[in-house]
Parts: sequence; structure tokens; C-alpha cells
Amino acid sequence: MKITMIGAGYVGLVSGVCFADFGHEVTCIDKDAGKIEALLAGRIPIFEPGLEQLVAENVKDGRLRFTTDLATSVSQSDVIFIAVGTPSRRGDGHADLSYVYDAAREIAAHVTGFTVIVTKSTVPVGTGDEVERIMRETNPSADIAVVSNPEFLREGAAIDDFKRPDRIVIGLNDDRARVVMTEVYRPLYLNQAPLLFTTRRTSELIKYAGNAFLAMKITFINEMADLCEKVGANVQEVARGIGLDGRIGAKFLHAGPGYGGSCFPKDTLALVKTAQDHDSPVRLIETTVAVNDNRKRAMGRKVIAAAGGDVRGKKVAVLGLTFKPNTDDMRDSPAIAIIQALNDGGAIVTGYDPEGMENARHVIDGIAYADSPYKAAEDADVLVIVTEWNEFRALNLDRLKASMKNPVLVDLRNIYHRDEVTKHGFSYTSVGRPD
Ligand SMILES: NC(=O)c1ccc[n+]([C@@H]2O[C@H](COP(=O)([O-])OP(=O)(O)OC[C@H]3O[C@@H](n4cnc5c(N)ncnc54)[C@H](O)[C@@H]3O)[C@@H](O)[C@H]2O)c1
Repeated sequence: MKITMIGAGYVGLVSGVCFADFGHEVTCIDKDAGKIEALLAGRIPIFEPGLEQLVAENVKDGRLRFTTDLATSVSQSDVIFIAVGTPSRRGDGHADLSYVYDAAREIAAHVTGFTVIVTKSTVPVGTGDEVERIMRETNPSADIAVVSNPEFLREGAAIDDFKRPDRIVIGLNDDRARVVMTEVYRPLYLNQAPLLFTTRRTSELIKYAGNAFLAMKITFINEMADLCEKVGANVQEVARGIGLDGRIGAKFLHAGPGYGGSCFPKDTLALVKTAQDHDSPVRLIETTVAVNDNRKRAMGRKVIAAAGGDVRGKKVAVLGLTFKPNTDDMRDSPAIAIIQALNDGGAIVTGYDPEGMENARHVIDGIAYADSPYKAAEDADVLVIVTEWNEFRALNLDRLKASMKNPVLVDLRNIYHRDEVTKHGFSYTSVGRPD
């Protein structure tokens, strides 16, 4: 199959290279010329484990190309994926679909022969209808089928997720597109990945329902953690105790500073807005959004409390800035609100992150950056672990204690045991584990 991928970001680049690795001929397009220039020079604009090598192999074998020239590639393709961003619209929280619709217009002008247009971006129910309307309006003679194929990969494990998915959801209303999509995913289908065919609208909703459910699960265990702190229970044991119930499942039951990232915050909000527009409010998700928003700043207050109730003029070292490990993505990271709360309280903050510092500089003001956890901790009154990078799991506590002003550790990811930390002379605060 000849495939064009519109948008070479986290999803477009990973999907594009994986399709190429399956044997398809893939061209990744991005309107950001700098990104394409970097890719042509063999530089990967994002941090994703394994991506650089896979890109290099597929470029070398001639199955993967990068260009800003949409017209030529689109006119020669059987399938065109739209993998552009759908951020929250400023002001009202609806998904901003302008990138998707712009891409639809550009594609429509250049398609030739029967072409399947696949929306891989996360888009609200009904977007496929509008993409189809726009394309038919732009090019009434175009022979197209518009398909929904939401992406479920997780940053940090994106290649593995793409190649070994739990399921592939495909929403369509056209039998010719079904044949094409089956061919696109044939290597995965042969590997037993379930292909779930449904209608376009159902497929669009599956993506939001999935993300909203996971966000709700995280928020649930976070609230249990708060209750554990009040009643003297241990949230990790509560999570294990309920997670062993097959109906509940153990995943996504790690208490922490609240969910962030490029998907859950914007997708939960967009689902709330869609549901309100259809007079069918999703109250559980409305509450999830509100509870999670409050939590991030509350974690800043937790740090201030651990520092004795006041951080004015005190030095706080923050380890981990990205919303989770193994990515450089800073979008909606809890670290942003936590650091803001600390700055508002008068703290002097130094941050360290293995991969996220370059992106952090664009979204976090008023902090210094260190080039190692130990440098960040020098003279610090408090050390806070916000993201559980492996590099923070076995810190040399003696070395930290010797260089910090006060040995206070706030572990917002519960990656240490209290006994181990206090043995080294630290005061220790974690999440939902009061003893
Ligand atoms: N990041 C994830 O983990 C993830 C997972 C599943 C689904 N999604 C969804 O996938 C979509 C893309 O997310 P992302 O994180 O890859 O975004 P991203 O911002 O990393 O990448 C989007 C890219 O599209 C490019 N672009 C925008 N308009 C274009 C156009 N008209 N022509 C060519 N290029 C264009 C941008 O320059 C950018 O490089 C979103 O809807 C997101 O919700 C993301």
C-alpha cells in the first residue's frame, strides 16, 4: 500500500515508521519545515525509545520518506492518514479541529483515484462527517471514503504499542474502505491483534470513552490515596487489594500527582463538551476533570507542608518534569502546576529531567535547570520526585543528604519505601501511605 501520513508528530511519526516497517511505502508530511529538515538529516524531533533506529532502517530500505510536499504524495497514495494535533480550543475546552479540517481541504485538492482518508487524530463524534463534507465540497469529483481509526499508543512505549496493540478500532461506512484497511493492518491481523470494525461515529466515541475511563480510574485511586492519608491506610495495598479482582484490574491504579500529558486532559474536557452539546452530560467525567485540576496544585501545597509550611526563600529541587517517564512531552504535565504553586509561595526552584528540559523551558517560567539530580539537590531544602524516571529509583541517598541543606524528600510517585529513606536520615512524604 502507498500511504501518506499527514503530521509527523508523536503519533504520525511512530505510525508512519511502523507501517513502513510492515512493508508499506510511507511518506510522512509535516507543514513544520524544521521538523522535516531534521528528519531528512536523520535527527528525530521527539524522544521515543527505539524510534531513531527504526526510522533509520526504514529510510535506508527506501520504504519511508519525509517531505513538506503534500500534493505529490497525496496524489499517489491509496491511503492518507490525518495525524495532526487536536488540542483544547482556547477559552471553551472543545477540541480544536482547525488542523484536521485544514488538512482535509489540502488533501481533497490533490487526491486521484479511489482514496481512503483515515482520521487517526483523536476527534469528537461527528468529525468524520464534517471531514467528508469538507472534502466533497472542495473536490466534488473526488472518489473517497472517510474512515475513523483512533490511535491508542502510549508515549514511551509507542512502537511496541503500535506493533502489539490490544485492538485496532476501525470505523467506516464503505465496504471498499474495509478491504483497504484490512490490507493496511494485515501484518498485525496475522499476529492476532483484534480488528474491531464498527461505524465511524462509534469508533470516534470509543477513543474518548477509553481515555475518559482511564482518567477516571487514576482519579479514583488518587482520591482513595487522600482518604488513606486521613484514616491511616496504605493506598498501594488498597490498589493491590482491588486490582486483583479481575473485574477491576491492576493497571492505572497508581496514586500520584494527577494525570497530565497530551491526551487525557484535553480528551476528558472535549468529551465533557461534546456530551453537554448533546444534552447528555457525563457527570463522572466532569468531576474527574475538576478533581484532577485541583490535585496538581494541591501537590504543590503538599510540598510546602513537607517543608514546614513555608517555602519563601527556600530552595526546592524538582526531579522529573515530563508528564511521565520515557518521553520529552511536557504538555499538561503536573510539574507545571506544582512548580507554579511553589513559585507563588516564594520558593527558588531548580528542575532536572533526563529528556524534558528543552521542552520545559518553553512552558515553565522562573526556574533554574540542573544537569543531574545531584546538582539539582545541592543546598536544597526539599527534594521532590514528580516523575518516576528509572534514573530516580535508586538515588544515592547518602550523597543527596550530604549536599542538601535539609534532608526532606517528597515522593509523589511512591517509588521509595519509607524505612529505606528514613534510615538515611530523611524526612519522607509520599502519596496515600501515611505510616
Ligand atoms: N501523543 C500521543 O500519545 C497520542 C496518542 C493517541 C492519540 N493521539 C492523538 O493524535 C493526534 C496527534 O497527536 P500528536 O501528539 O502526534 O501531536 P503533535 O503535535 O506531536 O503532532 C502533530 C503534527 O502535525 C503537524 N501538522 C498540523 N497540521 C498539519 C497539516 N495541515 N499538514 C501537515 N502537518 C500538519 C504539526 O506540525 C505537528 O508536527 C492528536 O489528535 C492526539 O490527541 C496522541
